[in-house]
Amino acid sequence: MAGANASFTSLLLISSLLLASHVSGLEVEYSSLPLVKGLSWKYYDSSCPKLESIIRSHLKKVFKENIGLAAALLRLQFHDCFVQGCDASLLLHGSTSGPTEQDAPPNLTLRPEGFEIINDLRQLVHDNCGSVVSCADITAIAARDSVFLSGGPDYNVPLGRRDGLTFATRDATLANLPAPSSNTSVLLDSLATKNLDATDLVALSGGHTIGLGHCAAFIERLYPTQDPTLEKTYAKDLKQVCPTQDSNDTTVLDIRSPNKFDNKYYVDLMNRQGLFTSDQDLYTDSRTKDIVTRFAVDEDLFFEEFVKSMVKMGQLSVLTGKQGEIRANCSVRNSDNIKLASVVDDDDESASEL
Ligand code: HEM
Repeated sequence: MAGANASFTSLLLISSLLLASHVSGLEVEYSSLPLVKGLSWKYYDSSCPKLESIIRSHLKKVFKENIGLAAALLRLQFHDCFVQGCDASLLLHGSTSGPTEQDAPPNLTLRPEGFEIINDLRQLVHDNCGSVVSCADITAIAARDSVFLSGGPDYNVPLGRRDGLTFATRDATLANLPAPSSNTSVLLDSLATKNLDATDLVALSGGHTIGLGHCAAFIERLYPTQDPTLEKTYAKDLKQVCPTQDSNDTTVLDIRSPNKFDNKYYVDLMNRQGLFTSDQDLYTDSRTKDIVTRFAVDEDLFFEEFVKSMVKMGQLSVLTGKQGEIRANCSVRNSDNIKLASVVDDDDESASEL
């Protein structure tokens, strides 16, 4: 946590760049979004100019087959950044040093396809540019494209993250990813440790406008006693999906438009049709209720705040400069990568100038 705070205390304002992007008709002035030292809007402009088009065109194909995978990639970025920062440590497979972040309970429901897609992207980017782009940056761009290709805002992603050499423990993972049973007080406290405020909390929770949840994540709202904040017909429908306490089916997070990135999630909350306690309580708690209402009536405002919060979240405790490494395979540290040892030089020289 101290690391996350330190990163944000050291935010530097890059005022010379006048980059702007369309957010559903609105312009977000990138010059006004603070950047952590070491990241840049144009990091790979010379070392991998096609980076973003390679990722976007591959994901377009992937999502044409299965748009649900956009949700998997968006969630991956959240789970990477909240635990030990956006360092792609979540992508590391097991090793002799013990259970990985992937083995910690909140990460067990991440879809395996999400990890595979990041590795495929890593390969495509590597084929085009060599070993210069980090897995952490690929994950951040993939999350942005998941939002955009599902109907949400397009935005620029600060780049230049490096990949971590260690993964977080099970305890650290549990401590940093709030449970779906959390109320707003718990969520506000959790996000405050990362310098994220109530608007960030409500905006980022809007990620639940796409994707799925398993019964286990909301079953305590149905049995033994039904949560009185659940709208009655919705509760009945949920009981059909999860007929018993140990049901393991899934249901959509946003009943109005489950695969579209829009502001309907907030309309759900206003109708007491939020799936998790952590969602619905945002409309019960007086500190967040008005923000929910504003996002429900103004999609442009939601998109604008979502972009700002994603850019903030995407910079939590990042590794930059000569810290960490550029992994050749997103699931394996370079030092554990037997194939790599004999063929790849130190990657520091090939990294872009800031
Ligand atoms: C605020 C605290 C949050 C809590 C407590 C939370 C909790 C959860 C839970 C329990 C699931 C369902 C897992 C399952 O049962 O399969 C889920 C899914 C999801 N979450 Fe969150 N989440 C939070 C914040 C976020 C944020 C910040 C984002 C992204 C900006 C996000 C994006 C998603 C997406 C896209 C899914 C669907 C994944 C899929 O379909 O594979 N969540 N979340």
